[in-house]
Amino acid sequence: MSLLEQIDKSRTPRHVAIIMDGNGRWAKNQGKERIFGHSHGVEAVRAALKAATKSGVEYLTLYAFSTENWNRPKEEVDALMNLLVHTIVGELDELDENGVRLHAIGDLNNLPTDCQRELQRAIEHTSGHTRVNLILALNYSARWEITHAVKAIISAGTRAEDVTDDLFAAHLSTAAFPDPELLIRTSGEERISNFLLWQIAYAELYFTKTLWPDFREDDFYAALLDFQSRERRFGKTSEQIAFEIQNPIAGNA
Ligand code: IPE
Ligand code: IPE
Ligand code: MG
Repeated sequence: MSLLEQIDKSRTPRHVAIIMDGNGRWAKNQGKERIFGHSHGVEAVRAALKAATKSGVEYLTLYAFSTENWNRPKEEVDALMNLLVHTIVGELDELDENGVRLHAIGDLNNLPTDCQRELQRAIEHTSGHTRVNLILALNYSARWEITHAVKAIISAGTRAEDVTDDLFAAHLSTAAFPDPELLIRTSGEERISNFLLWQIAYAELYFTKTLWPDFREDDFYAALLDFQSRERRFGKTSEQIAFEIQNPIAGNA
């Protein structure tokens, strides 16, 4: 049985987020420039999106560029921005044909203008699609996002007693999406690197040594299967969770 067939479709996470890491090391392993790894990472993006669609994941968030990534050498940053524009333009028909709705989160106003323009165009062009949502985190960091939300809440004159979890979440750039249930990071690094800090409060974390350019559909399914083997307790006991599974209505009451 293939990995995809082993997935329990009734328990597929609605939202999977990925920290796509290891492009530089992948290129270095082959004696190539780092950007060679970034270009090959596009194939992995296609694979992840395809796998998400086939397994019934509704939202796929990809960490593509962090606010800290501006600190890389200028040639690498320029090459990454170029790759971004070319990929968005080049993949638009494919997104369209596959019912993919594109979104972007992050400090988008500080991206190069051609990036902003093509991104906006692709977002508008795909806005009618409903099969799967692809969310690109660009010039994103969780601390930027949280600070931004706090400023908006204060500027609106919100009273302290009205600040709730829900109100706060509604001011994040992910307000329209459910929280990710599964966070994948490739390349063997086991850290969050300023990604979705609020939203992953109860996400399952999955780390794989696979470098991002080598990531394929089966790597995505392996992560989903691992996710499905875990018991998500949300602060309760294992016995309570077992009872709820056997008595779905009583458990939820
Ligand atoms: C991830 O790969 C891509 C981005 C951060 C844009 P890296 O470029 O971080 O690759 P490594 O971690 O140096 O191998
Ligand atoms: C995180 O990867 C950011 C992206 C994947 C876009 P990094 O490679 O920049 O993270 P650190 O610096 O190793 O933590
Ligand atoms: Mg890295």
